[in-house]
Amino acid sequence: MNIKKLKKMSSIAALKYITKDSILGIGTGSTVITFIKQLKKVSNFIRGVVSSSKISSFYLKKYNIKIFDSREIDNIEIYIDGTDEINDNMQMIKGGGGALTGEKILAGMSKTFVCIADFTKKVSILGKNNPVPIEIISISYSFVKKKIIELGGYPVLRKNFFTDYNNIIIDVYNLFLKDPVKIEKKINNIPGVVTVGIFSIRKADVALISHKNKIEEIKK
Ligand code: 5RP
Repeated sequence: MNIKKLKKMSSIAALKYITKDSILGIGTGSTVITFIKQLKKVSNFIRGVVSSSKISSFYLKKYNIKIFDSREIDNIEIYIDGTDEINDNMQMIKGGGGALTGEKILAGMSKTFVCIADFTKKVSILGKNNPVPIEIISISYSFVKKKIIELGGYPVLRKNFFTDYNNIIIDVYNLFLKDPVKIEKKINNIPGVVTVGIFSIRKADVALISHKNKIEEIKK
């Protein structure tokens, strides 16, 4: 199966959600980079974008797409992003690329969150194939680790990695998220946590899942 082709299929499918003269939110990851290449073709149709990360901004600039400063924007029509895992309830684990904080802010300010993914990202229970990333303030490392172990998780520091905001990330294994909302809230409440990569409260509104010969379009 050609994963590149699958990413392109979901990216093209997302174009129809873009509305004229809108400001679009752009996520992060290899699927999103594929989407940015498609967006370039219709960039005159939109006012511009807000970006969730430095790496996405790099690609947006490369393709001359106008970027608005997210500090000056409080709502966006559409947010387009990939995911590490998505369940039947449109809840996700994100942050494999480490941009979860910017992504959660843009997801939160969007009217419609469109998730673009290939079929390998679909899971029955979140946490099955991927750890849950958590961005934390470095001075809270030991304390957050202890709290995560109490929740049944196995935290691993992401080596040689700093987020766009100079924080660190711990990847938490063994969290099988039967009740993602409950765990998302619990982790959000640990002092030192900036963002947890569980997107179960603000989840996707639309998922465009590419399969070998078709796009599966799921709506909330
Ligand atoms: C980055 C993310 C990405 O959306 C997620 O990791 C999926 O990436 P890819 O499209 O490369 O599989 O959350 O922080």
